[in-house]
Amino acid sequence: MSDTISTEMIKNISLFEKLEDSDIEKLVSVVQKGSIPSGTEFFKEGDIGDAFYVLTNGEVEVSKEINGKKTVLTTIKSGDENNFFGEMALIEDLPRNATITSTTDCEILQIEKKNFDMLLRINSFVALRIMTALTKRLRADTGSKPADSKEQETKAQVITFFSPKGGAGKTSIATNVAYGMAKFLKKKVLLIDLDLQFGGIAFMLDLKPKKTIVDLTGSDALRNYDDIKPCLSKHKSGFDLLPAPLKPEQSENVDSTHLRKIVSFSNNQYDYILIDTHSLLQDISINALDISDIIMLVMNPDMGHIVAIHNCLNVMDSLKYPKEKIRLILNRFGSYYSKSKEELEGVFQKKNVKVNYVIHDDWKIASDLINNCQTAFESNNTSEYRNDIVALISDLTHETLPDEAGSAGKKNIFSAVKDWFNS
Ligand SMILES: Nc1ncnc2c1ncn2[C@@H]1O[C@H](COP(=O)(O)OP(=O)(O)OP(=O)(O)O)[C@@H](O)[C@H]1O
Ligand SMILES: [Mg+2]
Repeated sequence: MSDTISTEMIKNISLFEKLEDSDIEKLVSVVQKGSIPSGTEFFKEGDIGDAFYVLTNGEVEVSKEINGKKTVLTTIKSGDENNFFGEMALIEDLPRNATITSTTDCEILQIEKKNFDMLLRINSFVALRIMTALTKRLRADTGSKPADSKEQETKAQVITFFSPKGGAGKTSIATNVAYGMAKFLKKKVLLIDLDLQFGGIAFMLDLKPKKTIVDLTGSDALRNYDDIKPCLSKHKSGFDLLPAPLKPEQSENVDSTHLRKIVSFSNNQYDYILIDTHSLLQDISINALDISDIIMLVMNPDMGHIVAIHNCLNVMDSLKYPKEKIRLILNRFGSYYSKSKEELEGVFQKKNVKVNYVIHDDWKIASDLINNCQTAFESNNTSEYRNDIVALISDLTHETLPDEAGSAGKKNIFSAVKDWFNS
């Protein structure tokens, strides 16, 4: 696979049509061209992905083993809009999802994994085209699964709590939400403490983990959900916690590939996977945001947070996250440093920021979690804070919480608060 490739050849491929000349030059130097006879297996379902392919001539079939039988899912032709394959395993860093076999003699271009990563980085058009094809293929793939497929039964909703400024309330909210979902709605919840250096959810909940996320980072330590199970700490309310490393220096061992595998392997075990992050937009937190269905942006009612949130939303725009994926939580509303409702509304309007949830300031409840290992639901201090969390859970799950959880479980007082800010 070593024939020479011209810039013209690359330009004629629709996937690459929007590339700058300088990027085409880079590609020419890393792409390999090859001829493959009919009946050749490019790769097999379960193989480790090491390359991406563009089909410039010919046809291949995509097949999977379903109930022990080879099942052809679709074919890809060189004239198709999406005349490429092999991207799924490279993006996911997981084994190949299907087998690809040539059904005619084929001409192909092959790009190795490290160069494929570079390709996605240098051009957002190519990244978008590949992502769109990927989504279509995943949808078709899900549709092809037999009705009794276990995977199809449950798929967790992934929700990441992020704030561009530290101390906004991510951990308290994520922990209380996990508790409320598990205890009152009997949801299966996994809470991942991704504040890798100083995350202390296990400590806050008085759990004494023997194993943490760092135990999943050795070679071959993370192959399926069975590997994850021993690293989880079960909370008495029913949710599972994957604790952050016990020593800050261990945080370096955990990377975004581990995170993606953890979420992917846990996906069909839970209703919700909640991820608590730290406040830096670094590779691992961006990966958490990427794989989330919902991003909860947590802020406080002061100018520093408002400006930071505004900048953060700009970054999310450039990451092409759909607007509906992002929800804003205004925490510590009513605190002594909080701007008034009128002032906040004015600033939010000016910055074009919409608040989805409001959580009131309550130092007693907040310190019960930090100092007494008690969530808002266990605290003897009753307050609007608990009702706000109940309303948040109710909005996320579309379910009503029982009376014992708090008054907002009965009727969603929260929609009133929403209108308050967004009218
Ligand atoms: N609604 C609230 N009312 C009063 N205090 C609060 C509230 N929410 C959080 N706090 C307090 O603010 C501090 C920071 O909260 P928390 O640890 O949940 O934030 P965080 O965003 O996770 O912080 P970090 O960026 O350090 O991880 C804690 O002392 C907590 O008790
Ligand atoms: Mg935190």
